Amino acid sequence: MQWENRIVLVTGANRGIGKSLVEALLSRGVKKIYATSRNLGQMPVFNDKRVVNLELDITNQEQVLQIAKEASDTEVLINNAGVISYSSLFEGPMEPIHNVMDTNYYGTLSMMRAFIPVLEKNDSPVIANVASMASFVNLPSIGGYCASKAALFSLTQGARIELAPKGIAVHSVNPGPIDTDMGSKYDGEKTTPEETAENILSGLEKDEADIFPDRWGKGMFNLWNKNYRDLENMMAESFHAEKK
Ligand SMILES: NC(=O)c1ccc[n+]([C@@H]2O[C@H](COP(=O)([O-])OP(=O)(O)OC[C@H]3O[C@@H](n4cnc5c(N)ncnc54)[C@H](OP(=O)(O)O)[C@@H]3O)[C@@H](O)[C@H]2O)c1
Repeated sequence: MQWENRIVLVTGANRGIGKSLVEALLSRGVKKIYATSRNLGQMPVFNDKRVVNLELDITNQEQVLQIAKEASDTEVLINNAGVISYSSLFEGPMEPIHNVMDTNYYGTLSMMRAFIPVLEKNDSPVIANVASMASFVNLPSIGGYCASKAALFSLTQGARIELAPKGIAVHSVNPGPIDTDMGSKYDGEKTTPEETAENILSGLEKDEADIFPDRWGKGMFNLWNKNYRDLENMMAESFHAEKK
């Protein structure tokens, strides 16, 4: 995967990992970046004519469909936008649990559904979904968030299988603790969003199906790893066998 002359859309581009992704993409020679944010007033000045700012709340279905029309030359879709909630799954209101699911899972799913017809018409299409190490392990203090990221990881696996015949490459990105607003309550060692963004783009260049862009996330994954790709491949085979 080469970045030169590519057209990329990044959600949640106004801060954190999304902002660093835009900066890293600019330095890799892309042709155009649709940098989306739910509040354009919060968008940093990227000072580069290749950046096109678009207003987008991924939970707003009308806006999602509109953006798919406006950004119909997108070749690489990076679903980075996400929210966290610090709440128990079993005590307190359900609202924060719905909220993380609505954004991280349903919002990303809406983006994918809107952009699949766009991407499949364009060159070497790619979808990268920023999930989390939380996809693999549930931490009860952020239980709803972990469940939403596990759902997103599963969605990403399913998309990789179902969209392969359309020629769309689908990647998961699974960071550990990153030094952004979202990671601010975590006191341990964190990776910078700049380094994370560089490693995400390198992972895409190397065509890694599941990208682990920081040392801690990768270490945690290695602890968890019991050869999950065998199961994924089995599902892929049975899916395609069923279609024949
Ligand atoms: N930081 C970590 O430790 C960590 C670890 C693993 C995975 N991740 C994942 O990495 C991604 C980026 O997180 P970050 O660390 O950069 O967090 P962040 O600094 O909190 O940034 C989150 C971004 O997502 C945007 N966003 C939230 N809800 C949205 C919506 N409904 N529509 C559109 N944009 C929305 C935010 O926009 P506003 O400014 O408008 O709120 C912001 O731009 C997230 O998916 C997150 O779950 C982060």
